[in-house]
Amino acid sequence: MNETVYDSSVSEVGLYEGKLVRLKGWLYNKRSSGKVLFIILRDGTGTIQCVVSRADIGEDSFLTIDRLNQESSLIIEGRVRKDPRAPGGYEIGVTGFSVVAAAFPDYPISLKEHGIEFLLDHRHLWIRTPRQRAILAIRAEVMKACRDFLDGEGFIEVDAPILTPSACEGTTTLFSTDYFGEKAFLSQSGQLYNEAAIMALGRVYCFGPAFRAEKSKTRRHLTEFWMVEPEAAFMEFEELLGLEERMVTYVVEKVLQNREKELVLVGRNPEDLREVKPPFPRMTYDEAIKVLNEQGFEISWGEDFGAPHETALASLHRKPLFITHYPTQIKAFYMKPDPDRPEVVLGADLLAPEGYGEIIGGGERIADYDLLKQRLEENRLPAEDYGWYLDLRKYGSVPHSGFGMGIERLVTWICRLEHVRETIPFPRMLTRLRP
Ligand code: 4AD
Ligand code: MG
Repeated sequence: MNETVYDSSVSEVGLYEGKLVRLKGWLYNKRSSGKVLFIILRDGTGTIQCVVSRADIGEDSFLTIDRLNQESSLIIEGRVRKDPRAPGGYEIGVTGFSVVAAAFPDYPISLKEHGIEFLLDHRHLWIRTPRQRAILAIRAEVMKACRDFLDGEGFIEVDAPILTPSACEGTTTLFSTDYFGEKAFLSQSGQLYNEAAIMALGRVYCFGPAFRAEKSKTRRHLTEFWMVEPEAAFMEFEELLGLEERMVTYVVEKVLQNREKELVLVGRNPEDLREVKPPFPRMTYDEAIKVLNEQGFEISWGEDFGAPHETALASLHRKPLFITHYPTQIKAFYMKPDPDRPEVVLGADLLAPEGYGEIIGGGERIADYDLLKQRLEENRLPAEDYGWYLDLRKYGSVPHSGFGMGIERLVTWICRLEHVRETIPFPRMLTRLRP
């Protein structure tokens, strides 16, 4: 009578302790002690040590597997054994295997350290390493949590176009392309379309790539990044900040719940993140300038913050920090000026702690037709391209607010990484379009 062999993934072998399983994956690492071979198999869900002994599988099979190169694909059968010393708590006593495809001997990414440019050139292979896999799994968890949170709050996902005729966030960072003889741009943000959609659906969000032709070579900037952008009719500024706070808290909670192992693997202490709970501290732009001046920064009212300013402000707290009421002159044309003090807007940036900078930008929008028209003119934005956007203020305008959260910035902070480039499968930056 043949014993049953269960198909399993590495992450689920614990369900089959003492039983035979079949695992499909890739050879990540291998070391030998003469009679016994230790293979690390990875399968996308995790890695596990598989122990191969000459005595168990015979001389020929032993030699075959002993000669396999790193990254060869194979199917392994074996018995699940509990092993408290193993990273996942289990190992496999191999009883048989088949090679799916033997890898060439020159796999470029070895287990030693490589330079960052080399790794980025080999991003298509680099993503196979456990650390990169963990980051991408956390990214997916973050994106799912954003959707689950917003769906649960009655927001409806509405997709905004990527090819657009006009700018949302300033004309200096637009990527342009030829659109049948006309100039088109890659979307910087779906916000303006969201504002149309809320008049139909009440609460909406778009979730997709955004493009910025920024010539910035910082650790926070990508030219293509992903942004989730909620927008709500009848929502005013205060309520918006509450929504942002709850959403960030929810996302962090879900990552802690479902990806704690990955957090530990990438070097983030989960305890740091458990402190992320409402209310988040708040500071007005005015106060921020004062604090910065006291700390010795030479910055005067009306100037925008740079990375060092944001880092200094956010490091005052262990939770994300809202900076509110920025000068109208440095913010986008659609931001609503504070009725009591029109030189500042009802807008806020949310700064992550530990020097990660702005993760959310948002605020209340101008609902008044005349004021918006004036702001468009002041910003020299052509009436023919923004006529449809002005229409929204003609036919049943309502107070409304929204924000955009950059997924890569958020994941960089959650994972405590050096640079945003590792948080997106194939980063696009000033000096990188490949692979
Ligand atoms: O502050 P931003 O430019 O705001 C907007 O685009 C609004 N229209 C959003 C809205 O209200 N619907 O961008 C929002 C967020 C930033 O806080 C940051 O997290 C991220 O998008 N972001 C970038 N992430 C990576 N690389 C870049 N070059 C980024 N630019 C913005
Ligand atoms: Mg911003």
